[in-house]
Parts: sequence; structure tokens; C-alpha cells
Amino acid sequence: MLSTPILLDYQSSTPCLKDVINSMAPYWSEIFSNPSSKSNLAGIQASAILEVSREKIQEYLFLQKKKVIFTSGATESNNLALLGFARNHHKETEKYGHIITLKTEHKAVLEPLDQLKKEGFHVTEILPDKEGLISEEKFISSIRDDTFLVSIMMANNEIGVIQPLKKISEICRLREITLHSDYAQCLGFLELESLDSIANMLTISSHKIYGPKGVGLLLIDRDIELQPLVLGGGQEFGLRSGTLPLPLIVGFTKAIEIAVLNQKKNTEKLIFHRDKLLNGLLVNNSGIEINGSMKERLPHNLNLTVLDVNGSKLHKSLKSKIICSSGSACSNGKPSHVLLALGRSFKEAEASFRLSIGLMTTTEDIEKSIQIITDTIKSLR
Ligand SMILES: Cc1ncc(COP(=O)(O)O)c(C=O)c1O
Repeated sequence: MLSTPILLDYQSSTPCLKDVINSMAPYWSEIFSNPSSKSNLAGIQASAILEVSREKIQEYLFLQKKKVIFTSGATESNNLALLGFARNHHKETEKYGHIITLKTEHKAVLEPLDQLKKEGFHVTEILPDKEGLISEEKFISSIRDDTFLVSIMMANNEIGVIQPLKKISEICRLREITLHSDYAQCLGFLELESLDSIANMLTISSHKIYGPKGVGLLLIDRDIELQPLVLGGGQEFGLRSGTLPLPLIVGFTKAIEIAVLNQKKNTEKLIFHRDKLLNGLLVNNSGIEINGSMKERLPHNLNLTVLDVNGSKLHKSLKSKIICSSGSACSNGKPSHVLLALGRSFKEAEASFRLSIGLMTTTEDIEKSIQIITDTIKSLR
């Protein structure tokens, strides 16, 4: 009998927690009105619940200076932050200025920036070091007189490395440059820094933190002005029109509460399993290399290259036994731009995978995975 594959792909998405599902229950068919319909009592009730969710998020994340904007997820939040801010800058100054980012950002940052390049803005993509980290010196030397926006992710989705955002933030503040950070992989997995001061705009996604899919956040400093991308009903301070998905927002709010409350306990458990998996693989196999810094890394991420094996055969063999992301999973079959930026060849990038541990991962999952991966590598060599 075929056993179900072991899930080690929690950075791709997470299942909704039971408490999250329960929190959403009344908002599908009992309290279902449009929160923007404030001319009737049912709409006023829905609107009040929406605003309570917004306030709860401000409370859970200790936000005092940020505006909370609901979006459909991190992709939309990144697009709104980057396109919205740059186009507003051009409208106010009549200039196309300079933007700095990292070569290893998610495509939901790189592609909007490509669009801005086509519109006339100048974009510098900094190459990180071999560990995947941005160097402070390189960052400072890439700043120009007309640099008005920087987008550097807090932690990388493929290799899990955590950037020195505090330093970047201080440099940007001194030079009055606006900083955006894609925080999609971080909430609940890092000690909660002051989100008010770590960046001027922050992107957060619900389905990475055991909340429902289809909802996210853009947190922005109150004085930031954006050109909206979606026009119509004027919802979300006129920045993002469209009827808001109340059940998803309530579930997301619950997921944030749980993630923040359990951060320390969850992080310890994830690190325990992650390190056990890594040690087991390294002890049982030669020629496995780690991609990205192990010191500055999310607790649930591993990204490994297996030398001397054929990448497509490796993934084919693992497919039915372990659910994980291949070195090409995040880029539609092409070798990962992140691994290539770290200096990996096409062949090495293909023979790489991301293993991401979740809250439901058991010791048995880890032990079985070590065995499966070890057997697979042996059979391919
Ligand atoms: C760092 C990062 N940014 C953006 C996204 C896109 O997130 P969403 O699925 O919420 O649009 C992801 C998801 O893979 C991600 O990991």
C-alpha cells in the first residue's frame, strides 16, 4: 500500500489551524454582509467586525504608527507598495528616481520592479554574498542621490536567510529613503521586532502562518502616500478598492494572534526538528551542501544541494515520498534565481531542494525523511 508522502513544504503554504477555522465559522452565512454597506444595520455590524480585526492586529503586532491595509496576499501587498509608492513619487516630483533591491527577492518584488524599469525608473539589484546576505558596504555604495525607495526582504523564502534589516533601516532613515520589506515568511518565526520601526512598509501573508489563503496585509507608515492599483469602491483608505473578505480577515487575525503568542515555543520545536533532519542527512551522506547562512536563518528552513546526482532524477524519485520544493519550484521549472545568485551552476541548482518544517511535523517524519533521502541519493549515485 502506498503511504502518504511526508509534508516538508510548509514555507509554500500551511494548513489552517482548528482555532482559525472555528473563528471564521460565523462569517460565511450568519454575519455575511458587505462591510462597506454602512447604510444598513447588517453592514454596520460587518464593518464593526472588520475594524475590530484591524485594531486587534495593531495590538498583537504592537503597531502604533502603521496603517493596516488588507490585501489578497503578499503578492498584492508587494505590488501595491512598490508600484504605488514609486508612481506617487513620480507624480509628486515629476522625476524617475532610483530604487534598490536584492537579486534574491521573491518574484512578487522583482517583477513589479521590472515593470517600474519599463516606466522609466532606475533599479539596482544587489548581489548578496555567498551566504545569501546583503553586505552593508555594498548597500551603502549602491545608494545614489536620487535613491528614494529600497525593498529588502526580511527573510528569504527559498534559503531562509535573515537579512540585517535593522542596519539597512538605520541607513535608510538617515538618508530619508523609504524602506519596504517583504515579511511574508517571518511572522511567528522570528522574535517580534518593532514592526513600527523596522521598515516604512511591510508585507505579510496569511497562508504562511496557518491562516486562510487569499488575504494579506500591507502595513505602511501613516504619512506614506500610494497610488492605488485597483480603483472603484474606495475601500481601505482609497488604496485598495473591492469588498473585503470578512471571514478570511477574521481567520487571519486569529492566526496572527496564535503565531505571536506561540512564537518562542514553536521556534524551539522547529529548530529541534530542522537540526535533527540536517544532522541526519549530513551524517549519512557525503556531498550535501547547505545553501545560505545557517547562523542567520529561519527556524523551519533547510535548502540543500546534493552533489553528483542528476537533479531531475532526484526530484522524480522523491516526489511520491516527500513533498518539498525543488531548486526550480519557485520559478516555473527554471533553475532558482536565488541559487544561481549564490553562485550555484544550473546543474547544482537543479539538484537542490528546500525542506521546510511545520508545526505538524513529527520526529517520525524527520527520521523517515532522513532514510528516504539517504536511500534515494545512494540509488542515484
Ligand atoms: C517572500 C514571499 N513573498 C511573497 C510571496 C507571495 O505570497 P502570497 O501567496 O501571499 O501572494 C511568497 C509566497 O511564496 C513569499 O514567500
